[in-house]
Amino acid sequence: MNHYLDLFPPSFVAIMTPFFLLPLLLLLALPLPLARSHDYHDALAKSILFFEGQRSGKLPADQRAEWRGDSALSDGSEVGVDLTGGYYDAGDNVKFGFPMAFTTTMLSWSVIEFGDYMPADERRNAAAAIRWATDYLLKTVSHPGVVFVQVGNPISDHNCWERPEDMDTARTVYYVSADRPGSEVAGETAAALAAASMVFRQTDPAYSRKLLKKAMRVFEFADTHKGAYSDDPGLKAGVCPFYCDFDGYQDELLWGAAWLRRASRNDSFLDYIQNNGKTLGADDNINEFGWDNKHAGLNVLISKEFMEGQVLSLESYKEFADSFMCTLVPESSSSHIQFTPGGLIYKPGGSNMQHVTSISFLLLAYAKYLSKSSQTVNCGSIQVAPSSLQLQAKKQIDYMLGDNPMNMSYMVGYGDRYPQRVHHRGSSLPSISSHPRFIACKDGTDYYRSPNPNLNPHVGAVVGGPADDDLYEDDRADFRKSEPTTYINAPLVGALAFFVANPNAGLVLR
Ligand SMILES: *[C@@H]1O[C@H](CO)[C@@H](O)[C@H](O)[C@H]1NC(C)=O
Ligand SMILES: *[C@@H]1O[C@H](CO)[C@@H](O)[C@H](O)[C@H]1NC(C)=O
Repeated sequence: MNHYLDLFPPSFVAIMTPFFLLPLLLLLALPLPLARSHDYHDALAKSILFFEGQRSGKLPADQRAEWRGDSALSDGSEVGVDLTGGYYDAGDNVKFGFPMAFTTTMLSWSVIEFGDYMPADERRNAAAAIRWATDYLLKTVSHPGVVFVQVGNPISDHNCWERPEDMDTARTVYYVSADRPGSEVAGETAAALAAASMVFRQTDPAYSRKLLKKAMRVFEFADTHKGAYSDDPGLKAGVCPFYCDFDGYQDELLWGAAWLRRASRNDSFLDYIQNNGKTLGADDNINEFGWDNKHAGLNVLISKEFMEGQVLSLESYKEFADSFMCTLVPESSSSHIQFTPGGLIYKPGGSNMQHVTSISFLLLAYAKYLSKSSQTVNCGSIQVAPSSLQLQAKKQIDYMLGDNPMNMSYMVGYGDRYPQRVHHRGSSLPSISSHPRFIACKDGTDYYRSPNPNLNPHVGAVVGGPADDDLYEDDRADFRKSEPTTYINAPLVGALAFFVANPNAGLVLR
């Protein structure tokens, strides 16, 4: 991903939603969403199909995104290891392990919570998307004492506008070890393998057991050799500024332990959370959730343990999860996170849709846990019902699908109007099947600069989305707005599955 975060001056000014207007708006708006529902099934199918366009390695016979071909078939050869497969993170051709693992965790969480709402074929497609990642992640942890965390020199890769099938830049292999630890990427890999083990428990028990066993091992490695991978100069040169560990590795250790606890039901991971929560920053109450920062997701995930398992020592996680939810719902009088005038969750820094989809997923997962244990969100003097969380998630997803000031969908191939000039090398250049001749590094520039639509619509890709003024220019060069990423789509898969089965969720009168 081409995000140079330092180009945008961060704005920490939270815009207050006019919450006092809400009852009126709700009454006026109520019949509209009911009358004009989105085709969530179509959007779900496309959100999963997107992952096929991001595949690296030898493509299978049932590949549906036919504009793609085999690529990076000698990844790992530099160190004598097979590291083919996995996903490119975004519109480039690098395999970044940290966001890939997070993507895998979120795809798995999507299926774990909302897979039962998916039509059977989409449940299978989602499992295939997860397996494409876990088959690769298993390769990265198959050599004792190291975890391979990245393939591809990002500087030379980003210097080219080249199809993955033609890629001829350095496929540098980066790894963490006891000497140069990377507890964030190893901890996230443990989380991903543990969460995925739950997805395959019924359909492939042997694979599921293997995933869980490896998850435990890589977690032990992450915990034994504590450190951040961006502290090592060699690794830093490869992972920064793209996927630096900006906020520390501590959250990924708790997150990995929480997923191992959930997947294994083994009390030792519960003990780990209880004994290490304080030193690992569980009380920081940070309202962030994404590939780098796990806090809000951790609070939601561990709240389940508190609410359903009545583990009283974990009560603070529900308090923090509650306080995050209170920043998202209009009823609450606590200060709110920023929204665009059109109502979209907005965080500065580019690729805003990653926040929209991950927070929407958390709203829905938390609503599910609350409902199951007949609880509400405690926002000071106000108790907020789970349906309010669902309503906010629905507003976010519906905005993304077309209910917005631009009247456009931000998912390629969904609806009548959607982004045409997506910042994605493979999508914008001619397909390898229609143009087999090699297109060298700089020879892609004309396609990059072309005002024409991308030649291969990357169906299901969700772009970074509009800025804080709700405007979107559909400009390929503006990667903050026009680049898709795997971690935008991964939590979206779960949110869309929920709305397939509950298209009017949140719209009940309480
Ligand atoms: C629980 O996990 C710990 C730490 O990985 C392990 O030593 C122990 O054998 C596990 N217990 C069971 C019952 O699997
Ligand atoms: C979006 O649709 C509304 C209602 O049809 C219209 O008033 C508005 O001008 C449209 N906006 C754009 C950017 O097309």
